[in-house]
Amino acid sequence: MQGKDLLSIADLSGEDIRLLISRAIDIKAEGWLSLLERKMLALIFEKPSLRTRVSFEVAMKQLGGDSIYLSPAEVGLGKRESVPDVARVLSRYVDVIASRTFSHHNLETFASYSAVPVINALSDQEHPCQALSDLLTIYEKKGGLDGLTIAFVGDGNNVAHSLMLAASLTGMNFRIASPSGYSVEDRVLLLAQDYALDSGAEIICTEEVEAAVGGADIIYTDVWTSMGQEAEAEARRQTFASYQVNEKLLSLAKEDAIVMHPLPAHHGEEVAEGVLESPNSVVFDQAENRLHLQKALLAEILGGLEISLTSS
Ligand code: CP
Ligand code: NVA
Repeated sequence: MQGKDLLSIADLSGEDIRLLISRAIDIKAEGWLSLLERKMLALIFEKPSLRTRVSFEVAMKQLGGDSIYLSPAEVGLGKRESVPDVARVLSRYVDVIASRTFSHHNLETFASYSAVPVINALSDQEHPCQALSDLLTIYEKKGGLDGLTIAFVGDGNNVAHSLMLAASLTGMNFRIASPSGYSVEDRVLLLAQDYALDSGAEIICTEEVEAAVGGADIIYTDVWTSMGQEAEAEARRQTFASYQVNEKLLSLAKEDAIVMHPLPAHHGEEVAEGVLESPNSVVFDQAENRLHLQKALLAEILGGLEISLTSS
C-alpha cells in the first residue's frame, strides 16, 4: 500500500484489508503516536462532511502530522481551475490527499495527475474508507469476519459498492435487497462475484428484503437519497418505502445481529428510530472507527510496514 492511491476497495487485496484491521486495532489501543511527523494531508471536498473530515484531521494530529481542509466553496474543482492543474499544484505542497468528489471519473483524473497518493474520501461510485472502518467494527463485534452474512437493505450506492467489494474479498457473504433499478452496478457485482470465487463468499442481489435479512449477522442500511440526488428525494422515499430497517425486519435476522449505518441517517426513513437506538445498533462505534482505521491507512500509505508502533 505504501505510496499507492486508494480510490476503490478493488485497489486492495483481502490480505491488505486484514492487515489494515489488525494495525487499526493496535493503533486504537495506543492512541497518540509519532508515526507521521512532518507529514501533511490535504482534504479537498466537493460535498459536505462531518465524520470523514474530522476523523482524517484528528488522525493526522494524533500521528504527529498535520492537515489542511479545502471546502467545497474554496475548491472550484474543474471550474476555477482544471482538475489536472489542482492535482499537480496541491501535490507539490502535501504528502497525501483525501478527495471527496461527485464524479469518480474526476477523482481518477485527479489521482493520475497527483504526484502524491490520493485517497477516495467518497465519490459517486465508492466510499472505501467507510467500508474498511465498517469491517473493523464487524471484526470487533463478531470476533472475526469469516463466514458472516451482511444484509444490505436499500440503495445500491457508493457505500454498498465498497462494502460488497470488501466483503467479497474477505470471505463474508453479502446480500443486497433493493427496489428494481436501484441495485448495485453490474460492473461492481461482476467484480465482487469474481473475488467471491476465491474467497468463498456468497453474493446475492434481490428485491426481496425479507429473504435478504433472514438469518443475517449484520443488517446494513444507508440513506435512500445520497448527496447530489436531492431532486429525486420524494420519488425515492416512495420507491424505497418498503425497504425501511424496522423492528419487524430486525426480528428476522440473528438474535445478536448488529445494525449498521454510515451516518448521517434520516431517522424514521431508511431506519426506524427504535432500531437506530436499539442495543443492536453500532452506528456510533462505526463513526469512531473511521478515526482508527484511517490512522492505520495513512500510516501504511505514508510509511509502509517499516513503521513500528514502538517508534514513538
Ligand atoms: N459516513 C460519512 O462519510 O460521513 P460524512 O459524510 O459526515 O463524512
Ligand atoms: N451514500 C451517502 C453516504 C454518505 C456518507 C452519500 O453519498 O451521500
